[in-house]
Amino acid sequence: VKFDVVRNDGPNCSREQLVRLLGLKNVFVKQLPNMPKPYVTRLVFDRKHESLALLKRGTDGDYIVMGGCCYRPFPKQGFGEIAFLAISHSEQVRGYGTRLMAQTKERAKSLGLTVLLTCADNNAVPYFKKQGFSKKITLPLNMWQGYIKDYEGVTLMECKLHKKVNYLR
Ligand code: ACO
Repeated sequence: VKFDVVRNDGPNCSREQLVRLLGLKNVFVKQLPNMPKPYVTRLVFDRKHESLALLKRGTDGDYIVMGGCCYRPFPKQGFGEIAFLAISHSEQVRGYGTRLMAQTKERAKSLGLTVLLTCADNNAVPYFKKQGFSKKITLPLNMWQGYIKDYEGVTLMECKLHKKVNYLR
């Protein structure tokens, strides 16, 4: 397996990237049935968002998307918001989700972000806790209010990123 950053580069977007964006959209739609399909599609293809994709080589040698984490970096505010996180059913509980999150944290660090926020499904709260997220938000309200919408059925959670920590180790 490998982990790659996938983003929509508009007119410059390669066919390979587009196929991967479609693969990500399909995994999210399947694994997050409460999310409206058009909303998932819009965010995955949105040029302000990017995703870390879990890619597995298929029998024909091509890489297939088996999971992903889609987020939007807010560079000026210094944080990133995770919109979707999912692993294909057949690959769940094998540690890929944890590895994907570690890759996302390193990527966020390289973009200069110091905090990750997510509106976690209430049933995913224990999972995010395991991944270093907390319900306690330390980022000042004026830094994220208006950028993040906290709605019913989800819990806003925060993970601080430490420059000196290598999350891939
Ligand atoms: N609640 C609590 N613990 C969990 C959950 C859960 N829902 N899912 C997995 N775990 C545990 C595992 O048992 C494992 O425990 P261990 O470390 O004691 O062995 C640990 O978390 C690590 O599991 P991974 O193998 O890294 O997790 P996985 O690869 O299965 O990925 C994920 C986890 C992404 C939540 C996956 O199960 C999935 O795609 N679920 C459906 C989609 C979903 O709910 N996504 C999150 C929604 S919220 C959002 O997207 C912002």
